[in-house]
Amino acid sequence: MKFFVDTADTAEIAELAATGLLDGVTTNPSLIAKSGRDFIEVTKEICGLTDGPVSAEVVALDHAGMMREAEILRKIADNVCIKVPLTFDGLKTCKALTSEGTMVNVTLCFSANQALLAAKAGASFISPFVGRHDDNGFDGMDLIRDIRLIYDNYAFETEILAASIRHPVHVLECARIGADVATMPPAVIKNLVKHVLTDKGIEGFMADWAKTGQSL
Ligand code: E4P
Repeated sequence: MKFFVDTADTAEIAELAATGLLDGVTTNPSLIAKSGRDFIEVTKEICGLTDGPVSAEVVALDHAGMMREAEILRKIADNVCIKVPLTFDGLKTCKALTSEGTMVNVTLCFSANQALLAAKAGASFISPFVGRHDDNGFDGMDLIRDIRLIYDNYAFETEILAASIRHPVHVLECARIGADVATMPPAVIKNLVKHVLTDKGIEGFMADWAKTGQSL
């Protein structure tokens, strides 16, 4: 499973990229606003921090406007992936852009039928929002499971990019089901490494090593 980080914080992205565990980055208008930086400038910097896809979201709601914005965004770098909302205009834009060889991430997916439409529109990635689905009384993992089944039934190549991931159990469940990618806030990625018995084990080994009086 690929790991994307869901942030526009370049310091966090650089730190995670240095581990070699990062496969890409997703942003959205809320994350750009949180960064307090110029959209184009910060996207360019992010694209230089990873070789993987960097999702940059259009803010127009109509097809012509989305195409105009996509034209600006895709010039930033070769690894820009245009993010469009799951609407008819978004799907039309997805079809047009992917036909020209541009990567597209269709976002704000909350049903398997929406994911089916995105695959038919040639999306590179579909982003089902697990956490927001859970927040509204649905099971986000059922959504991932249904999309996996449908995409496998028809051999769609669209990658399932599990989004709105809130904690390590979401990551575990997505990996069990076979999501292609999970995009997570930096804190969730960092939490994956933690285990109390790992910490306790290191503590014990260090204490015993100190008793040997040796050094390396
Ligand atoms: C995905 O691309 C979105 O940016 C993100 O995962 C949304 O997560 P949230 O529901 O925590 O805002």
